[in-house]
Amino acid sequence: MRRMPTALVTGASRGLGLEWCRQLSDKGWTVYAACRAGPAAPALAPLNVTPVMLDVADPASVAGLAAALEGVDLDLLVNNAGIRPDECGPDKTLGEMDYSAMEATRRAAGKLCHGPFKINILAQAVLATNTIGPMRVLSACLPALKRAGAFKVLNVSSGLGSCSLAAHTRRAFGNIAATDLAYRSSKAALNMATALAALELGEPRPSHLRDTSETANSPACVG
Ligand SMILES: NC(=O)c1ccc[n+]([C@@H]2O[C@H](COP(=O)([O-])OP(=O)(O)OC[C@H]3O[C@@H](n4cnc5c(N)ncnc54)[C@H](OP(=O)(O)O)[C@@H]3O)[C@@H](O)[C@H]2O)c1
Repeated sequence: MRRMPTALVTGASRGLGLEWCRQLSDKGWTVYAACRAGPAAPALAPLNVTPVMLDVADPASVAGLAAALEGVDLDLLVNNAGIRPDECGPDKTLGEMDYSAMEATRRAAGKLCHGPFKINILAQAVLATNTIGPMRVLSACLPALKRAGAFKVLNVSSGLGSCSLAAHTRRAFGNIAATDLAYRSSKAALNMATALAALELGEPRPSHLRDTSETANSPACVG
């Protein structure tokens, strides 16, 4: 008998990730719903999914995920978890990034920083969550994905990470033209990481580049 496919969705506690879990489980998929709250996430309780505790920005937590997937054949990974904190978000332009504080911030990593350092701490958190996190999760899931054979990976990006759209940015984005540096850079870097991972894994043309739009893996806005 043919087994039903299995998916892992990150950022499953709300928003798009929760909807992925709902729709896949409704179709009969086996769903691992990964989020920081794990089984304590209230939105997951009514769903027929297996909650998994996962912080994609925490290497130890991702290592735990690999262990949780031992023996699982994983057909689909939806790398959906992402952040766009207001503090380094739409109203922050290039001139507001405090580059001189970067090195000090790096040295102070792990300590709570205030004032001018805050934006850089946040920028690092955005990269850790939106770019490095998904690639680390992909690496951790590779054994389970390979066990399934023909697997798929969806790294959820954003139109805001498109370099070509940014080149026509006023027409494309109007009044948020040259802002949101941390989030947009993190998604642009994710796009490149996705393309390279696809090449490494033998996909001749990464699917997010196969579409005529570079934003094929960018969801529409949800309320
Ligand atoms: N919504 C849109 O219009 C839109 C447009 C373009 C792209 N996107 C992208 O689509 C994805 C989902 O967006 P959304 O609007 O559904 O976001 P959302 O409602 O803010 O949900 C984000 C999810 O990511 C999780 N998350 C954040 N940091 C995490 C971490 N370190 N480890 C594990 N999980 C973490 C959150 O879990 P917690 O409950 O633990 O915080 C939450 O489940 C994001 O990657 C976003 O950039 C969204």
